[in-house]
Amino acid sequence: MERQANNMSNSKKRILTGDRPTGALHLGHYVGSVANRVKLQEQYDSYIIIADVQALTTHWEKEEGLVDSVYQITTDYLAAGIDPNKSTIFIQSMIPEIHELAMYFSMYTSVNVLRHNPTIKTEAAQHGLKDMTYGFLGYPVSQAADIAIFKANLVPVGEDQIPHIELARKIVRRFNDLYKPVLVEPETLVGDTPRLVGLDGKAKMSKSLNNAIFLSDSAEEVTQKVRNAVTDPARIHKTDPGHPEICTVYEYHKVFNRDEVDEIETQCRQGEIGCVACKKRLATTINNILEPMRERRQQYQDKSLVTDILKAGTQKAHQVARETMEEVRDALQINYFPRNQ
Ligand code: TRP
Repeated sequence: MERQANNMSNSKKRILTGDRPTGALHLGHYVGSVANRVKLQEQYDSYIIIADVQALTTHWEKEEGLVDSVYQITTDYLAAGIDPNKSTIFIQSMIPEIHELAMYFSMYTSVNVLRHNPTIKTEAAQHGLKDMTYGFLGYPVSQAADIAIFKANLVPVGEDQIPHIELARKIVRRFNDLYKPVLVEPETLVGDTPRLVGLDGKAKMSKSLNNAIFLSDSAEEVTQKVRNAVTDPARIHKTDPGHPEICTVYEYHKVFNRDEVDEIETQCRQGEIGCVACKKRLATTINNILEPMRERRQQYQDKSLVTDILKAGTQKAHQVARETMEEVRDALQINYFPRNQ
């Protein structure tokens, strides 16, 4: 039967991951997830959700809307090496079946479980949400639907997302037990991906902290930002022995310059390399990583190409979602008569 072919027609396992479109991607996103996705797309049937509805859970008041962010993130993905022939990039809000499934999931998901979700708690505090909205509190349920509707086998995410994937597993298991085993229980794929500190040495690179290098930065911007990065404050002269363990630039060398980092550490401790030279080396290394992205980005100057990619990805994803929802409605016994599509 055709319906059963959904996620079985293809021997590759399916992965689903994605982001909220809230701005340009930076190096923290790259090393934390995007570079991993570029690798994973070779091996898996890869789906990437641009979670615009989820972004609205915290950005519903933004007058400028999300269109620019959606184009920005898509162009960043493509520049970073996400290949639209290997990865299906799609827009969440254009697949209303996701929200339909989330509604069914919400019937048997406890509010208390959501309230105690550690990621929800942290984010509510970050956004200063004293009184959480229904949509915000419920976004992990919607995220479970993002995953389940595509019958994703694996979800590659960072640690902060683990509670959400755990919940998705429980929701799917419960659905399969309550109704009919039509959904696939997803597994978390936690990669060995570093968390990048900000240029100011703060715990996290982030646009809002103004301490980020963006994938779309020019070579000059990168050099300038690295030049201003925070280093060992006790080190004034090049010959002063440095303390790499407290130096942001050293942290970056560890991530981006694995081959040279030991040598740099020794030279720093012995006062043989000054901060200026050390930063130059880092800026060169980062620019070498970003240069191929700049070239690829050139190809997508014409926005209509990005639109075509989003359209094709969304159409393909929509078809998968429609097929799953037919099975879901059958399982729930709410498929009264054929609908006009
Ligand atoms: N919550 C994720 C984030 O903030 C984005 C996301 C939405 C997602 N739906 C998803 C991630 C489904 C993985 C799978 O980064």
